[in-house]
Amino acid sequence: MLIHGLQKRSYRPPDKKRFYKFGILVRYPFHDTQKMPEEPLISIRNLQTHYGSRQILKNINLDIYRGETMVILGRSGCGKSTLLRHIVGLAKPSSGEILIKGNDIAKMSEDEMTPVLRKIGMLFQGAALFNSMTVGDNVAMPLREHTKLEPSTVKIMMRMKLEQVGLGGFEDFMPAQLSGGMKKRAGLARAMAMDPEILFCDEPSAGLDPVVAVGIDQLINKLNQALKMTIVVVTHELPSVIEIADRIAMLHNGAVEAIGSWDELRANPNPIVQQFLNREADEEKIDREKYLKSLVEG
Ligand SMILES: Nc1ncnc2c1ncn2[C@@H]1O[C@H](COP(=O)(O)OP(=O)(O)O)[C@@H](O)[C@H]1O
Ligand SMILES: [Mg+2]
Repeated sequence: MLIHGLQKRSYRPPDKKRFYKFGILVRYPFHDTQKMPEEPLISIRNLQTHYGSRQILKNINLDIYRGETMVILGRSGCGKSTLLRHIVGLAKPSSGEILIKGNDIAKMSEDEMTPVLRKIGMLFQGAALFNSMTVGDNVAMPLREHTKLEPSTVKIMMRMKLEQVGLGGFEDFMPAQLSGGMKKRAGLARAMAMDPEILFCDEPSAGLDPVVAVGIDQLINKLNQALKMTIVVVTHELPSVIEIADRIAMLHNGAVEAIGSWDELRANPNPIVQQFLNREADEEKIDREKYLKSLVEG
């Protein structure tokens, strides 16, 4: 049985993800297209969402499998963050199902969701650190809130998480003393505090210079490989997609336009997909003369 988007990946240029994720074809669970993949870890069915009368998410169907890095790609405003907020239980859909290991969190109360969501970590857009707390306290906070661990154990775990993201020794720094890339790393350490099975990252490399952004992408790959975390990354940055994605779901105006590997997306004849991948900005299609005239004439 062939499931869309799970076909064996074809050639990948050696300088791309394969270089960093050596052995991925062995690790990747779907390389045998004849086999049914295992049950999805997350399964989104017919998800619809409205803000007021405006429909933001349109009939989203998406499966996320254990161990993969799924990228949710799309332009600004297409609904990527909204989709993540639904999956992590911060917003309720108008209709549809969000199954996490078979539990439909769309229909659960906050109390019912808590044990399900405990296995989920989230790096928010902009890292969302508490500026009045040290980096160490930011990372330790989920452990203090949700566990009964001894303070000394919390401290050891906090230091381990900071080590894992390359911030060993920065626990006493305040967020304001960190660079943009370091803030994202600290946000990742906090998202990982409870040893999540699934990690969500909303625009982890946005606003970073390209070298720092590559460092964050490599860190995401490391977490996926070394800790076997399932990772869902929202982005609109194509270099990040090439670096980290096993599969990509492309959103457009609140709907899933395409799902597949990078190679599959590149081969997809859908003009919306091609326009995004080729970065034919709409602006380039604006007639320059007409535009200047409109500025003068108002
Ligand atoms: N709380 C909200 N109330 C009303 N509209 C919202 C709210 N949050 C987001 N939107 C709108 O929903 C659309 C999708 O937003 P968002 O999910 O943040 O997009 P993305 O993350 O892809 O840039 C946007 O048009 C945005 O203006
Ligand atoms: Mg967003």
